Amino acid sequence: MPSAPSPGPLATPDPSADPAAVAGPGDIAEPTSAPPVRRTARPLAELPGDPLALDPEEMRRLGYWVVDQVVAHVAGKGSGPAVRVGDPGDLRSTLGGPVPSEPGDVQAAMEALVDVALPHMQHGDHPRYFARVPGPSSFPAVLGEWLGTGHQAIATSWGGGSGPATVELVVCEWLASVLGLPESTEGVLLSGGSMANVTALVAVRAVLGEGVAYLSDQTHSSIARGLRLLGWSAEQISVVPTGEDLRLPVEELRRRMAADREAGRRPLVVIATAGTTNTGTVDPLEDLADLCAIEDVWLHVDGAYGGPAALCAPGRDELAGITRADSVVLDPHKWLFQPYDVGCLLVTRPGVLERAYTMNPEYLADVTAGTGEVDLRNRSLELSRRSRALKLWLTMRGYGTRALADAVERGIALAEHAEGLLRADPFWEVVTPAQLGVVTFAAVGATGEDHTRAAAALSDDGYAALTTTTLHGRSVLRLCTINPATTGADLEGTLTRLAAYL
Ligand SMILES: Cc1ncc(COP(=O)(O)O)c(C=O)c1O
Repeated sequence: MPSAPSPGPLATPDPSADPAAVAGPGDIAEPTSAPPVRRTARPLAELPGDPLALDPEEMRRLGYWVVDQVVAHVAGKGSGPAVRVGDPGDLRSTLGGPVPSEPGDVQAAMEALVDVALPHMQHGDHPRYFARVPGPSSFPAVLGEWLGTGHQAIATSWGGGSGPATVELVVCEWLASVLGLPESTEGVLLSGGSMANVTALVAVRAVLGEGVAYLSDQTHSSIARGLRLLGWSAEQISVVPTGEDLRLPVEELRRRMAADREAGRRPLVVIATAGTTNTGTVDPLEDLADLCAIEDVWLHVDGAYGGPAALCAPGRDELAGITRADSVVLDPHKWLFQPYDVGCLLVTRPGVLERAYTMNPEYLADVTAGTGEVDLRNRSLELSRRSRALKLWLTMRGYGTRALADAVERGIALAEHAEGLLRADPFWEVVTPAQLGVVTFAAVGATGEDHTRAAAALSDDGYAALTTTTLHGRSVLRLCTINPATTGADLEGTLTRLAAYL
């Protein structure tokens, strides 16, 4: 146990013991007309010992307070509003101000975070948060995150982080197995679906060369943005309009590939979605896999939202064909009960990621992997990277896939229950049926403005949050029901209140 430093950063500085304490950063930076003098550091003996060290008892006191706060939050989920947006001036009056130069009261500062910063956001773990994609994080995952952060875990190079790297490789193997992907599948964790999809597509282009990427008008917007910014030209981004079923139309895709070849362009990659953000729809993965096999085109599946549904039987049925993908993305911070952030990219063709991303500079030679080991920095553009795997590993070890499968299946069942409630009430029209935890609907005769106003009023009253979206020009309301803590009564209460605002 380290001995208590003297004085700690929470103590009032004693200017006589530390002459620098009387000089703030402003004094150092003051403009002067004299030629700049390059100052050297004060002699070590004149400086205080580690100025940032804390007394272990103090760390325990502060840390236990944090645990109490988080447990109170987790146990009391649903007692506050599902969404709260703050006033910029009010928030800044507590959280803003000039750069603090003197030690402050950490306890009081933490209270400001808990009382002012953290309440003002979308509470994706609230049982009546149905907007966009909820984030129903689980407590073991929080513990895993804390352990990694507290130990400054790094998963960059084998020699510099073989433990966290192994946890990440194991977690990727577990996820590949849940999805039914081949044993040789390789993976890497990233900040989320946007980065994971782009990481895959960059690798495909780096290894196979340039060509056309095919996606649909329901593909997540981050993908087309990523492709554009990464240098795909307009004619290399082929956005195929969907029909009424909102699925990537295979025949139109076949026609476009032929036309592209005719025009001298190479069909490179089909980007299918397994659970679209708008409606939870799954593209026809088997047919797309057949087409890609014939055309020798890479099949990438964005399962950022829907991928974890593979844990349970109804989800596996929906995702049939995903096992034939060349690469798959899924987002554990959506439907695998993880705190932000963690996305996962899995590639079934071994070596592709390393071929695209390997970078072994001279200063990393000492920590670079040998045979049978992996440098995770060589699987994406991230070099220094935290261990996002610990939380997922702990969740999977702690609950086992059976409980996680039940939790996922509950999300699917909740959307089906909501669909039943909507169909039983002539006030509502179901626009797209419950698919992988998403149902969209409209109030009969309502305009888009009516929907937007009612959704906003429901958020403002704090009871629940849901989103509107637009499907082929039509405004709809949308419930995403993946929080296993949601009850049937939550859905009934939400629809009753929503109707009252229409
Ligand atoms: C299908 C799909 N793909 C990609 C993304 C982007 O994921 P992230 O927000 O984690 O970057 C989302 C986010 O909702 C999504 O639903």
